[in-house]
Amino acid sequence: MEKLAIEGGVPLHGEVAVSGAKNAALPILCAALLTAEPLRIGNVPHLRDVSTMLSLLGQMGVAVSMDDKLGIELCAARIHTPEAPYEMVKTMRASVLVLGPLVARCGEARVSLPGGCAIGLRPVDQHIKGLQAMGATITVEQGYMVARAKRLKGARICTDVVTVTGTENLMMAGTLADGVTVIENAAREPEVTDLAHCLTAMGAKISGAGTDVITIEGVAKLHGATTSVIPDRIETGTFVVAAAMTGGDVRVTGARPGHLDAVLAKLRDAGATVETGEDWIHVRRSGPLKAVNLRTAPYPAFPTDMQAQFLAMNCVAQGTGVIHEDIFENRFMHVQELQRLGADIEVDGNTAVVKGVAALDGATVMATDLRASASLVIAGLVARGTTIVDRIYHLDRGYEAIEEKLSRLGARIKRVS
Ligand code: EPU
Repeated sequence: MEKLAIEGGVPLHGEVAVSGAKNAALPILCAALLTAEPLRIGNVPHLRDVSTMLSLLGQMGVAVSMDDKLGIELCAARIHTPEAPYEMVKTMRASVLVLGPLVARCGEARVSLPGGCAIGLRPVDQHIKGLQAMGATITVEQGYMVARAKRLKGARICTDVVTVTGTENLMMAGTLADGVTVIENAAREPEVTDLAHCLTAMGAKISGAGTDVITIEGVAKLHGATTSVIPDRIETGTFVVAAAMTGGDVRVTGARPGHLDAVLAKLRDAGATVETGEDWIHVRRSGPLKAVNLRTAPYPAFPTDMQAQFLAMNCVAQGTGVIHEDIFENRFMHVQELQRLGADIEVDGNTAVVKGVAALDGATVMATDLRASASLVIAGLVARGTTIVDRIYHLDRGYEAIEEKLSRLGARIKRVS
């Protein structure tokens, strides 16, 4: 199994380019199911989750090809198997994003229930309730959600919780429904807006994406289109935290600073100097690192996907930082691993109290989810000696060439078997 070996203690310096957003690319790939014509997608990141989604779509009958600019072209002229098998869904929960498009286009879908997850219960009840409100019948058979609808009908849906993939699933379903669908309490994440842009380019009639009320006027058919994925705000956030934490000086390019307001505000509170331009962020820190308090919440508030990285930064900051995780109930799996590096952290329910220590010491650590792995990598960048991060297949799900990008910034990091 591959691992990352990191020699800590080098401040990061230089320029790094951000890749396309995993969580925008995945729903956009699924949007291809809504039309028989080709969908061309640029800026798709090279990630394991993207490959998993492409093979899932391929199994259904979607033709996948690469164009001369390394864009991905998908053509769902015929969907012969409207199904997401357990083997796929258990490795990638985002597979559930095929549910809405499949029922809308094929009138049927068989999608495995995702089951347990390393970061919390993560039910999909809101996806199901929304589709039922649109007239789908959904039964659970042998662990699978089996959905059927002759043609979905527009409906007014108010979700009980703000759900990103739930909003995306229902928005995609609404594009081909008969009548108007209104999603209230919709997720406002930039990835939802990016999907709406793609769907609009395909002929969908959507307004309100980026607000908490999205209105979709169903159309009979969508057509092919060309779209491009937004930059990954969580990858961007991970690099800027790494820059601040190591006391470095890094310019992140190809970014959308406007998607990271809450993150950059906290970074300034932590003592970093942050400058932004239209598509770049420059972070440097020469003064002390200060512990910050934060609470995760839906966009535009502080993202749960950046919680682990800030928790790691608090480990070596001056003072005590209190972190509340309000999105997922079990997203502190990195804490015990950070403690193995010498961090002083106490967890009580969904709250972690982090007291900064003078230094972390390298050790072998492993993580059970993607962002937890990222926090261990950046902790390794400041720890004394060598940190080995095990089970890096989690990282490969969501960070494109992370060790190459960090190496170019001066980090002593390499992939070992
Ligand atoms: N929830 C329900 N019922 C539902 C759906 C969600 O109770 O039907 C709850 C969840 O259990 C959670 C909360 O609502 O407590 C929010 O979950 P959400 O549905 O928004 O999460 P998600 O759509 O499954 C996406 C990202 C996650 C990111 C979350 C929160 C994708 C593919 N995944 O997940 O990304 O953490 O939104 O922003 O977009 C990651 O990239 O590492 C990652 C986990």
